[in-house]
Amino acid sequence: MTETAPPQPVTDTAQDRKTALAGLFDRSAPTYERVGVSHFAELGRRLVGHADILPGDRLLDVGCGTGAVLVPAAEATGFTGSAIGVDLSCGMVDRSREALRAAGLTHAHAVVADAETIDWDAGEHAVPPPANGSLDAVFAGISMFFFPHPRQAAARYRELLSPRGRLAISWWGRPDPRWDPVFAASAPYGRGGSSHALPEDSPFRSVEALHAMLEEAGFAAVETVEQQYVTRFRGTHQWWDWVWSTAGRMFWEQVPASSMEHAKAAVDAELDRLRAPDGSLTNTSAVRFTIARTQPSTATETMP
Ligand SMILES: C[S@@+](CC[C@H](N)C(=O)[O-])C[C@H]1O[C@@H](n2cnc3c(N)ncnc32)[C@H](O)[C@@H]1O
Repeated sequence: MTETAPPQPVTDTAQDRKTALAGLFDRSAPTYERVGVSHFAELGRRLVGHADILPGDRLLDVGCGTGAVLVPAAEATGFTGSAIGVDLSCGMVDRSREALRAAGLTHAHAVVADAETIDWDAGEHAVPPPANGSLDAVFAGISMFFFPHPRQAAARYRELLSPRGRLAISWWGRPDPRWDPVFAASAPYGRGGSSHALPEDSPFRSVEALHAMLEEAGFAAVETVEQQYVTRFRGTHQWWDWVWSTAGRMFWEQVPASSMEHAKAAVDAELDRLRAPDGSLTNTSAVRFTIARTQPSTATETMP
């Protein structure tokens, strides 16, 4: 029944990977957070809550997407502060701009640029890139593990931060083990490509590895808390819509058309086993929030 899938196309340079990601997120941008499932918005609010933002703070949000972090961060800093969101995907940046406009947050901007380097031509965008030492917080909400060079990016953020600055990162812990059979059912049909597959040397493989990387990048105090987040789906249709609205679509875009029907049936059979009597589904993800400060934290700054 299973067709042997050809090998995954090799994207062997960092630039290839970034171009592929920009395309992927451009395709998900029209429906991201718009299929009736609340997911990234709540995680964004939680990340901002962990970062102790004060009115007047100057902020950067890397991989800003549709504004899940950027909007609550800009609300927290208020009109005396500033916030810049950066994303590779034009579709995502358009959505962030729309969200900022709708919320009246005129002190916040979103630009299409590479978040690893934060270096763009001042004349090409509404705002110049931030100067070294000028930022109170850099946010990376569910984004930094996509970067080909997270170590260099962390060192760049350290340069941009002021003496009381912090880098606030959200990233995934262990996926819900109840869903393992769903992903096992789909795996034979794909070409091995998953947006969340981490390279062997990724610092996002463990809390210890991330802390070591951030300390090497020059951060003085690093803390992580892990929280559970339950995502609810009305039924299997809504789950499918949601997958296609996120980076999860990368796997499904690579399933050959000739095996798509079988692949979906295999997954639907596993989803059926997870459904509650009312047909709904829940997925409990472990989400990690890491705060890295440029100086040792004071007692009042320690994470809950
Ligand atoms: C899963 S989305 C998260 C978006 C948003 N922060 C949120 O919490 O909903 C990841 C985002 O990171 C962006 N991204 C990935 N690599 C990037 C890079 N090198 N520079 C800028 N943006 C990047 C993607 O385009 C995408 O919008």
